[in-house]
Amino acid sequence: IIPQADIAKRAARIGAEIRNIKLSGDLPAETITAINSLLLEHKVLFFRDQGHLDNAEQERVALRFGTLMAYPILAVIEGTVSMIELDSARPPRRADLWHSDGTFFEAYPKIAVLRGVVIPQFGGDTIWSNTATAYLDLSAPLQRLADELWAVHSNAFDYSVMANSEADKKHLDEVFARTVYETEHPVVRVHPETGERALVLGDVVQGLVGIPKYDGQRLFTLFQSHITAPENTVRWSWKVGDVAIWDNRATQHYAVRDYGDQRRVVRRATVAGEVPVSTDG
Ligand code: SIN
Repeated sequence: IIPQADIAKRAARIGAEIRNIKLSGDLPAETITAINSLLLEHKVLFFRDQGHLDNAEQERVALRFGTLMAYPILAVIEGTVSMIELDSARPPRRADLWHSDGTFFEAYPKIAVLRGVVIPQFGGDTIWSNTATAYLDLSAPLQRLADELWAVHSNAFDYSVMANSEADKKHLDEVFARTVYETEHPVVRVHPETGERALVLGDVVQGLVGIPKYDGQRLFTLFQSHITAPENTVRWSWKVGDVAIWDNRATQHYAVRDYGDQRRVVRRATVAGEVPVSTDG
């Protein structure tokens, strides 16, 4: 359905560009199945030249992969069910922290569809990491330790990482942490479609359950460093009209804040996911 010649890997462990597909809500079921298989294999897929998509059509594409999910801490774009906008000109501005989307929810998103709307002249790439290969990188005793651990995820984290100023931080605290969502997830989840084990961490983690704070921080840093190792990532330089689709159950991502005062706008449609299942079921 999708010829091998139209699939170009972008890094050894994660990421492939798919060429010669015009994304739309009307794609045949076989094409969606093929995209889903490629997504499970490569974790994030990139599609150039999708400038024909508007918000409604982007959502229709996302809908083909499951149920749309509004993102409770962010306002959805008017007229859409799930679409949120990150505009560097106004809060929430950007996502320059390592995270899988919405891990502070009990059932967090499974897939996201992101479109480049305003892209700076330079900078503003996004980096994705493969949380399944990060788990495989761990030595067997560390895998066994990770298998047993649970982490606390919360949207009431320190927003100064994303803020331009004190006023910005205050606004982010007020808007995003107005309702606090705090959830415990296993540090290792079993992927419901591939059966792979993947680490569930990210910068919204507040601590590890049953582990004293400082030991928890050290363990977090140890596991998270395998996720964000450069060799475990892929980096995408956006053009207007590009679309990235990622498997949020097997990746983290980070939007690089290196475009100065230029404007950057991306829009995301989100597909609802499952409550993660730990290695002991
Ligand atoms: C996101 O975290 O969903 C957006 C990533 C980006 O702005 O590139």
